[in-house]
Formats: sequence, structure tokens, C-alpha cells
Amino acid sequence: MPNPIENVMAKGAGKVAAVEARAKGLKGVFTKLAEQHREAATLLGRADSTTDIEKRRDLWTEIKKQLISHERAELAEIYPVLAGYDATREIARLHNAQAETLESTINQLDAMTFDTPAWKTTLEKLIGLVKAHADQEESEFFPRAQQTIGEEASRQLEDLFLRTQKKAMNEIR
Ligand SMILES: [Fe+2]
Repeated sequence: MPNPIENVMAKGAGKVAAVEARAKGLKGVFTKLAEQHREAATLLGRADSTTDIEKRRDLWTEIKKQLISHERAELAEIYPVLAGYDATREIARLHNAQAETLESTINQLDAMTFDTPAWKTTLEKLIGLVKAHADQEESEFFPRAQQTIGEEASRQLEDLFLRTQKKAMNEIR
């Protein structure tokens, strides 16, 4: 686990993102997803800025769990719902393609040793992918999705998402 200060920093950044998402009109699961994006970005930034190998390792264990469980629960609970509507079907298709790239970059990084320049280069590639994922979802996909499925469904999806994410997290070593 990252040290408590790093976790507190990431959670704090996540809460700020949730407030910003709410201010933009996002509700329920879409606010939660934006919160998790910022938490992951904060932890990724810490892993990128430290030269302490042990710290990198600890941060990476946590980042990997968070990112993979976030993606898998999105794929299981959010995007199949969006695939059912004409207005959001294309979004679901685009997202599924991005999720594959994201997971393969995570696996690539996972197979590398922490003290090599290649690790840092690949981490920075992942940071770019996560940022692009978060920007596109928060500015384009989520507003359209929420408008399509409605606020009530957005709220109900939050519980489902969190339950599936928790299960996915337990399956990741
Ligand atoms: Fe996401």
C-alpha cells in the first residue's frame, strides 16, 4: 500500500474532482468515476516523481488494482447499458477499444522491473492514456450518457458499479 499520506492526498484530490463533476451537472456513478480518475492520476503522478524503488513498487500495486477494477467494472456495468441506446452506442464501442489499450499497457508495465528507464517511459505513456480516458469520459461520454439514461439511473448504477469493482479488485493480485 502507498503510505497513508499518499492515500490521503489521492482521496482529497478525488473529492475535489467529485465536487467539480457535480458542479458540471454530473450525478451518481458519473461523479464517482470522475473522483476515481483523479485519485488514480494523483497516485500515478507520485509514482512518476519518486526515484525510490520501494515506493514505486507500493504505488504501482495500488494503481494497478484501482485502474483495472475501474475499467472492468465500467465494462461490466456502465457501457453495456449505454450500448442499448442509439445516442450512446458509439460511445460504448469507442470505450471498449480504449479499455483494451489501457489494460495491455498496464500488463506491459507490470512485467517490467521498477528501476529501468523503460519503466518510467511506459508509466508516462500510461499517464497519458489515463488522462485521455478521463478527459474524454468526463467532457464527452458522461454528460451524453447521463442525459440519455437520466439522473435516477445514473444514481442506481453507482451501487452496481461499486459492487462489481470490489469483486474485481479482490481478483487482482
Ligand atoms: Fe473511467
